[in-house]
Amino acid sequence: MRNLVSIFRIIALTAIAWGGVELLFETEPGQWAVIEYPKTLIFIGMIFLISIAIEVSVAALRFTLFRSLSEEKQEKFLASENQLVNKLKAKYENLPQLLTRSKPVEEEGEIELDHNYDGIRELDNKLPPWWIYSFYASIVFAAIYLIRFHVFDDYTQVEEYQAEVAQAEIDIARYKETAKDLVTLETVTLMADPSDLEAGKQIYTNNCVACHKADAGGGIGPNLTDEYWILGGGIKNVYQTLVEGGRPGKGMVSWKNDFKPSELQQVASYVLSLQGTVPAEPKEPEGEVWVEETEE
Ligand code: HEC
Repeated sequence: MRNLVSIFRIIALTAIAWGGVELLFETEPGQWAVIEYPKTLIFIGMIFLISIAIEVSVAALRFTLFRSLSEEKQEKFLASENQLVNKLKAKYENLPQLLTRSKPVEEEGEIELDHNYDGIRELDNKLPPWWIYSFYASIVFAAIYLIRFHVFDDYTQVEEYQAEVAQAEIDIARYKETAKDLVTLETVTLMADPSDLEAGKQIYTNNCVACHKADAGGGIGPNLTDEYWILGGGIKNVYQTLVEGGRPGKGMVSWKNDFKPSELQQVASYVLSLQGTVPAEPKEPEGEVWVEETEE
């Protein structure tokens, strides 16, 4: 019993230390402070070891003290300790009664109501405290609610909804800033950032030159520098070509399994940045002149 209590105290102290660490250290939502700041584990470990040390020394001290007592006093000591345990036990056994204030079965006769339907009788028990206090709490809640929303018109449900939507939009925008790979055919845009174009050039040099030539003048694949396009120009069409591939049997495969959407956006932007450059041996134009439709 005493050992159990000790173990419980050690666990509780360690848990409190952990909780403190989680409260004190700011983390990204959904992250554990102990994982983001592993050094805090040392602190929690120390609390754990110290509480073990305290429990052990207190137990040792108690044992030596007990041994130093005369036999008579030892018995007294044990008796007083047992008394404490018995008191706690009695309280615990009373707990259901404290929570419900119900009459014990032996005394039920006192609260029996004097009607009787086919042998079914009714007791007039007191309302359980947990119930009655929740009931009072709900009355207080209702009163505050009534005054706040129907007398002072704090905010309406529509306003609450709009505020949440606005917040969600801010969150989505923030998420999109960091998550580049949400690029889709609908959202793809022409990139102009030199670092993106450089990354696109890398991919192009490693994967595309065999068919399109390093200067994109064309070989097996068409010239990518002129304004003629078989599958359509502009960022959306070029991106689509990279995702879907060209017409069947022509040799231009889909690249969607080789690269992330954001990488395809980079290559597509790089390819389009070559528009109007003059390759060494340009392949003759294929397809139609592509004119970007301006949005109305
Ligand atoms: C195996 C050879 C080959 C490779 C490798 C290749 N392509 Fe192509 N590409 C072609 C062919 C052939 C076509 C024409 C497809 C058609 O006619 O449908 C084409 C078409 C295209 C088009 C459309 C051109 C137009 O006129 O509409 C683009 C854009 C393109 N390729 C970009 C790339 C990029 C970027 C890479 C590297 C990631 C690449 N290609 C790799 C052979 C290749």
